[in-house]
Amino acid sequence: MRVLGIETSCDETGVAVYCTERGLLAHALFSQVRMHAAYGGVVPELASRDHVRKLLPLIRQVLNEAGLGTADLDGIAYTRGPGLVGALLVGASVASSLGYALRRPVLGVHHMEAHLLAPMLEASQPEFPFVALLVSGGHTMLVQVAGIGRYRLLGQSLDDAAGEAFDKTAKLLNLPYPGGPALERLAADGNPARFRFPRPMTDRPGLDFSFSGLKTFTRNTVQSQGDDPQTRADIARAFQDAVVDTLAIKCRRALQHTGVSGLVVAGGVGANRALRDRLQTVAAEQGARVYYPRLELCTDNGAMVALAGALRLEAGERQPSSAFDVVARWPLDSLCPPGEAIPPRQVS
Ligand code: KG4
Ligand code: ZN
Repeated sequence: MRVLGIETSCDETGVAVYCTERGLLAHALFSQVRMHAAYGGVVPELASRDHVRKLLPLIRQVLNEAGLGTADLDGIAYTRGPGLVGALLVGASVASSLGYALRRPVLGVHHMEAHLLAPMLEASQPEFPFVALLVSGGHTMLVQVAGIGRYRLLGQSLDDAAGEAFDKTAKLLNLPYPGGPALERLAADGNPARFRFPRPMTDRPGLDFSFSGLKTFTRNTVQSQGDDPQTRADIARAFQDAVVDTLAIKCRRALQHTGVSGLVVAGGVGANRALRDRLQTVAAEQGARVYYPRLELCTDNGAMVALAGALRLEAGERQPSSAFDVVARWPLDSLCPPGEAIPPRQVS
């Protein structure tokens, strides 16, 4: 089964074709990062307009690369939420129109489910059950995954998401948007021994996170220590070490608590090298294995949407053709296994 995947939930237009027999056939991404950088963050209206400009050319490009015509597609998947409503609507309307014209099933996919299944695009694939650490710009979650659509939330951030903390801290250090990759580069020149930032909520039991205090800690450190280049690098290093350490402590706890032997790491912050290396060590200590998507499939992309859609469509899930909607907020643990129930509809 060949499924076209469309991702437009935020500031990347992603398109891909995934085949359930042959794997990923082609994928392409257009990042709006340069456009939003001038504003220091994503401007939703500009994001929507740019998806409108880029989506159809990207679909043509991906089909060309895969050597396919639209008639070769067996289904179409789009990100239904969570995300920016205007941006989501672009993907949803193009997917629904294509499906209607081609008489193919169309399925709205949960963005975080797509992230957590992304390691299945790689040669070394996790087997159920596993624990997933989802760390993106909007979410930080630890999820016990028994199968597709069988998700139990173990813990989540009570305030800022990990990626959001990276982005806000990067701003305090005068780094360009998006902050995560820029902060990681600056931290590489930092002295790890100069500052020690707190590891929030690691001194009490449980698997929830809190990252907003770290931002305040960074601001106070910048104010008291100045912002010469070396100090900025040292602060970036201390911040990154604190986030990585906090995530690692909670992942170790989640592995111990559930007794599973696989840890999946996905979402934009999963592209952070220090985090990847650290979780590799933590998992090895627990006799577990870590699974990541390749770097470019950690951040938003169409391949993960095509995959999630293909797995659900192949299992027989169908969405009524009238169910053309998007959802700004959509709890991951409200999902059901393929075909067991139509995802709850919700007016955003
Ligand atoms: O998953 P994603 O592409 O979009 C959302 O669904 O939010 O994640 C984007 C987030 C941003 O906050 C970005 O700063 C962060 O992931 N990020 C990183 C790195 N690459 C992206 N954070 C830390 N280190 C990185 N290398
Ligand atoms: Zn994402």
